[in-house]
Amino acid sequence: MITLALSKGRIFEETLPLLRAAGIEVLEDPEKSRKLILATNQSDVRVLVVRATDVPTYVQYGGADLGITGKDTLLEHVAEWGGNVSAAGLYQPLDLQIAKCRISVAVRADFDYASAVRQGSRLKVATKYVAIARDFFATKGVHVDLIKLYGSMELAPLVGMADAIVDLVSTGNTLRANHLVEVEHIMDISSRLVVNQAALKLKQAPIRNIIDAFASAIAK
Ligand code: PRP
Repeated sequence: MITLALSKGRIFEETLPLLRAAGIEVLEDPEKSRKLILATNQSDVRVLVVRATDVPTYVQYGGADLGITGKDTLLEHVAEWGGNVSAAGLYQPLDLQIAKCRISVAVRADFDYASAVRQGSRLKVATKYVAIARDFFATKGVHVDLIKLYGSMELAPLVGMADAIVDLVSTGNTLRANHLVEVEHIMDISSRLVVNQAALKLKQAPIRNIIDAFASAIAK
């Protein structure tokens, strides 16, 4: 049995064409079904529906053989292993080029970020992406107090809880709707295929087939 961990929403939708390229059709829609294990047209391939932030955990601990996760989620997950994907028992063979967005620093339109940085001010930064934010500001030499949030980061500067946020930006609509502006582009984000290292050894042929099918689908 080959088990693939996916999260609902954009990653799931954008993974379907890649699965199709590997001859795999998921038989149920996770938005309609409450099932957490979805069968496919191949009796030896199944899909687990998990929280986006849990995908690397399922793959690392062998609950799934493979998973698809954003680079953002993967970087936060492996921070505990010194930022090393391989030290976390994972193998990252492919950038799937799906669910593309960026991770940025944003502030209220009336906050002078450039001056605050120039003056060496200590910034309060709210984010779900603590490891990415810590690395970014450390490299820049900016002192920050990080405030961990789990969502709706945009609120923090609006209620005076933070000077800045570090968050994903796709269309920029959420920032605009909340009168925030992007002041730094930290990195581009896309989804990655992650594979459990032990599973790859034990089930080499079927896992390689999936990796190869995904790779040729991306190249098209
Ligand atoms: C993400 C992100 C922003 C929004 C950006 O949230 O946290 O809030 O999308 O997209 P936009 O630039 O197209 O407006 P998501 O909907 O993934 O939910 P989250 O708050 O749980 O992260």
